[in-house]
Amino acid sequence: MRIFVTGGAGFIGSHLCRAAVAEGHAVDVMDNLSTGSRDNVADLIPNPIFQLIIADGSDQSLVNSLVSKADAVVHLAAAVGVQLVIDDPVRTLETNIDVTQGVLKACRDLGKRVLIASSSEVYGRGSQEWFRETDDLVIGPPTSRRWGYAASKLVDEFLALAYHYEHELPVTVLRLFNTVGPGQVGHYGMVIPRFVRRALLGEAITVYGDGEQRRTFTGVDQVVKAILQLIECRESIGKIVNVGGTAETSINDLASAVIRATKSKSVIEHIPYEKAYGESFEDMRRRNPDTKALKDLLGWAPHSDLNAILGPVIEDMRKRLKKEGVLS
Ligand SMILES: NC(=O)c1ccc[n+]([C@@H]2O[C@H](COP(=O)([O-])OP(=O)(O)OC[C@H]3O[C@@H](n4cnc5c(N)ncnc54)[C@H](O)[C@@H]3O)[C@@H](O)[C@H]2O)c1
Repeated sequence: MRIFVTGGAGFIGSHLCRAAVAEGHAVDVMDNLSTGSRDNVADLIPNPIFQLIIADGSDQSLVNSLVSKADAVVHLAAAVGVQLVIDDPVRTLETNIDVTQGVLKACRDLGKRVLIASSSEVYGRGSQEWFRETDDLVIGPPTSRRWGYAASKLVDEFLALAYHYEHELPVTVLRLFNTVGPGQVGHYGMVIPRFVRRALLGEAITVYGDGEQRRTFTGVDQVVKAILQLIECRESIGKIVNVGGTAETSINDLASAVIRATKSKSVIEHIPYEKAYGESFEDMRRRNPDTKALKDLLGWAPHSDLNAILGPVIEDMRKRLKKEGVLS
């Protein structure tokens, strides 16, 4: 196959490209390097079946041309990360809606298989223990900028299914939950790399709120495996699928696990959400995926153990801090 990956120089994208190339697929990446980087795919660049094109997803003629050459498209490019969403709401909405629409239109016109990355953020304020794809979605008001990300991803989902309904577009929507692994950076609010970095440097680990909010983390290797299998899974066409794991933990326990795993002397500090993200910020207590739909489609679902996820992240962060010259 030849796969076109938007946002392929980002965290999930680079892992996806590496796994796809290892399976013998040719991969074209389009990325504007806003949150991704050339370093993420540096090892792939010499490979003739891999191509990195540095460009913005708003370049529709380039999107059309790359879609035309592809057998399948995985659309990951997006404005990502809590901090970015709060600080740059216009870019968040424009990138996440306009670029997705451009990709969907090209795939419709050229009849291409496409997977669109959405997010567990669309589950919004829901308080159930396990979130299912058919659940009602309750998001907060536009006066709270945080919800712009969820709203934009939800528009993407509606667009994707509308193109499927009206034009038989072979699309699958991936509702990705917290994904973790080497190469992820902490400055967009991603909690695990942020904690690991601080622990390795012996700095205080900052937990927002009371720390009893719970999250489920999934190893990026399993997410990527699921994406590659879903490309070829015809039964997933026209569907929304949760892609997430089972390693649920409170943020307090996560901070302690990171300290243990790094043998760090860091202390844990709690600060109010308002101090980190401003007055109108709100966070969910819990967010777990019901992965029955994924299991029915693929015969398996991610099952990551927290310590197994942390190991490679710690190794990777250690190398990066040494490269930065801040760790000996
Ligand atoms: N990582 C997670 O836990 C998670 C959870 C839910 C959903 N997602 C979704 O998965 C996708 C990938 O996320 P990620 O964690 O790898 O983030 P990332 O920031 O590492 O990757 C996004 C990539 O898109 C690129 N990009 C952004 N705007 C672009 C534009 N206009 N044109 C071209 N390229 C552009 C960035 O440079 C980056 O390389 C996103 O759609 C995100 O919303 C991720």
